[in-house]
Amino acid sequence: MISVADRLHTVEEYYFSRKLKEVNLLKEHGKPIINLGIGSPDLQPPSRVVSAIVDSMQDATAHKYQSYQGLPELRQAMADFYKKHFSVSLSPKTEILPLMGSKEGIMHISMAFLNEGDGVLIPNPGYPTYTSVTKLVGATPLFYDLKEKNNWLPDFVELEKTHDLSKVKIMWINYPHMPTGTVAPNKFYEDVIEFAKRHNILVVNDNPYSFILNQFPRSILKYKNAKDHCLELNSLSKTFNMAGWRVGMVMGKSEYLDSIIKVKSNMDSGMFYGIQKGAIEALNCSDMWYLSLNSVYEKRRTLVWELAEALNCTYDKNATGLFVWAKLPEFVKSEEFIDTVLKNDSIFIAPGTIFGSNGEGYIRFSLCAETEEIEEAIARVK
Ligand SMILES: Cc1ncc(COP(=O)(O)O)c(C=O)c1O
Repeated sequence: MISVADRLHTVEEYYFSRKLKEVNLLKEHGKPIINLGIGSPDLQPPSRVVSAIVDSMQDATAHKYQSYQGLPELRQAMADFYKKHFSVSLSPKTEILPLMGSKEGIMHISMAFLNEGDGVLIPNPGYPTYTSVTKLVGATPLFYDLKEKNNWLPDFVELEKTHDLSKVKIMWINYPHMPTGTVAPNKFYEDVIEFAKRHNILVVNDNPYSFILNQFPRSILKYKNAKDHCLELNSLSKTFNMAGWRVGMVMGKSEYLDSIIKVKSNMDSGMFYGIQKGAIEALNCSDMWYLSLNSVYEKRRTLVWELAEALNCTYDKNATGLFVWAKLPEFVKSEEFIDTVLKNDSIFIAPGTIFGSNGEGYIRFSLCAETEEIEEAIARVK
């Protein structure tokens, strides 16, 4: 038996990978499971996207290796998308790098900028990948608190008091925030850029949820002096129901992107041509796309709110995104609660603790289920 690398001992199998095995086993035993756990969009991508990939198959270059930087017209579509929706001007030649998924981008960025022992500021609660990637590259996670009393925004004064920031190289932020659905105000972006400047930290805003039930999409790159210390990740997964296509992008100063290309060009050999063609179509969708997508999620969210109430939870009606983050009654533990609901009602909900210790006492419902399923869940609980 060959022993595994030490770095593997720093991480565990992804929670959903483990838990879904249990959920699938219950399904095999005939349990009528309703999955409100994971955020994998069940709706279809725009039809023009599917036509584009199908049509592209006959193109002469369709099956060849593709450029490490993606097709120029894909980068142009990304630049146009950022101009139209975020009022941010980016050079398609030097300030945009298409990625095969934004999750993968978290690894690329970490490999490009982190040495062993460097510190990384990670939100608690937050997307678990920031922590596992930090550990895989031998850097040290330093968690910063997000609390309901601060509307799930960091307290920079507290952060500077409680953390030794001398070795911190990267700070992950993610607004609109997953799992809480909080939208950050303009002041937050100004403050985080100042904080980054003060401590010479690279702030990466992971921004995949801007277009889900959110009226005011914001990019950190819009703010003054952002390009000196900030990068932004975005993704087609949630905005266009293309999670399995694996299309994301990282944007920012050309010098930073050059370093990321150094890593990425040694890890993959370009994005499949047809996927790039489909992505271009998605990025060029009219406003109708966003309206119709959100009208579906709005209906689902109203039902999920009803389900949350039936489970004696409270929630914030101003929150955005693909999930409803709900607070359990006092003293109820997240994992015990979701296990009970799974056992008694065959409904799978994510416990808040998988996003960090500040998720204790909360649960997360996904909106990636049809209204009939959510209605059935309400009926079971009631
Ligand atoms: C906060 C956050 N960032 C990044 C991702 C990764 O998205 P993708 O790799 O599909 O672009 C997710 C996916 O669930 C997420 O919730």
